[in-house]
Amino acid sequence: MTTLSTTFLGQTFASPLFNASGVRCFDKDELNSLLASASGSLVTKSCTREARTGNPEPRYVATPLGSINSMGLPNKGYGYYLDYAKAHDYSKKPLFMSVAGLSLDDNIAMVAAIRDAALPAIVELNLSCPNVPGKPQIAYDFDAMDRMLAAVSAEYDRPFGVKMPPYFDIAHFDLAAEVLNRYPAVAFITCINSVGNALVIDIEREEVVIKPKDGFGGLGGDYVLPTALANVNAFHRRCPEKRVIGCGGVRSGEHIFMHLLAGASLVQVGTALQEEGPGIFARLNAELAAILERKGYASIDEVRGRLKTL
Ligand code: DOR
Repeated sequence: MTTLSTTFLGQTFASPLFNASGVRCFDKDELNSLLASASGSLVTKSCTREARTGNPEPRYVATPLGSINSMGLPNKGYGYYLDYAKAHDYSKKPLFMSVAGLSLDDNIAMVAAIRDAALPAIVELNLSCPNVPGKPQIAYDFDAMDRMLAAVSAEYDRPFGVKMPPYFDIAHFDLAAEVLNRYPAVAFITCINSVGNALVIDIEREEVVIKPKDGFGGLGGDYVLPTALANVNAFHRRCPEKRVIGCGGVRSGEHIFMHLLAGASLVQVGTALQEEGPGIFARLNAELAAILERKGYASIDEVRGRLKTL
């Protein structure tokens, strides 16, 4: 008998699947739809200290191969999501809170408030938003990332995770992993955020497809699956004390199985969830269970990191 159930940071997950932060998790209605779905958990929209309206529209467009977005962190402010986390019934499924402060001080203030609330909610610190003009992605600046993790680790006395951008060079995998390994409180690494600052062009209109930043935005969907798998596997290999959450290019059970082989413990769904809706989780659970059964695996834990090299 195959089970999709697993444990992560001491909590039980009926399925490894949940939403990528930002996708269908902006407000209570969207979060409650995820709660009612067959996802194993849910994560709230990356929050800032104050509410934000985000970038001008159009700011998300789906394409045949995925999506491009430059949302610009529209969110209701961390207090809203903290209230949601306080009201959440943790016996139903675990809840993650994504935190994306615009400064180190903002992140400290937010994690201190989350700590003081003493909830089972799990913090995912977003170090990789590509879409706020004038705010570089923190995890592409290893010194800034080091300072951020030192400060957050000192303030927040519980295990937390980091949402990372994709890296494309072995030297960058090595450097990023070295920084992350300095912080035992960093219990998990979510790979990857969108592939930042890409450009999708409409040839009929001879125009970009999203308004912010002259059309530059983060890619998700089919475009990013191999990059996501490489990042999952690179950090799985380099950070043996930490767990990896896979995110990027998942729209079938086979894609989830690939993320598990590469080393993911849990797997997030972004573009495909946006396009298909929360019903996707029942389909993906069934597809994953069928693959595990066909291959004779009793649980997803047996698959993690099993990827063979030649
Ligand atoms: O692709 C992304 N879009 N990644 C983030 O971290 C934030 C989001 C946005 O709001 O722009």
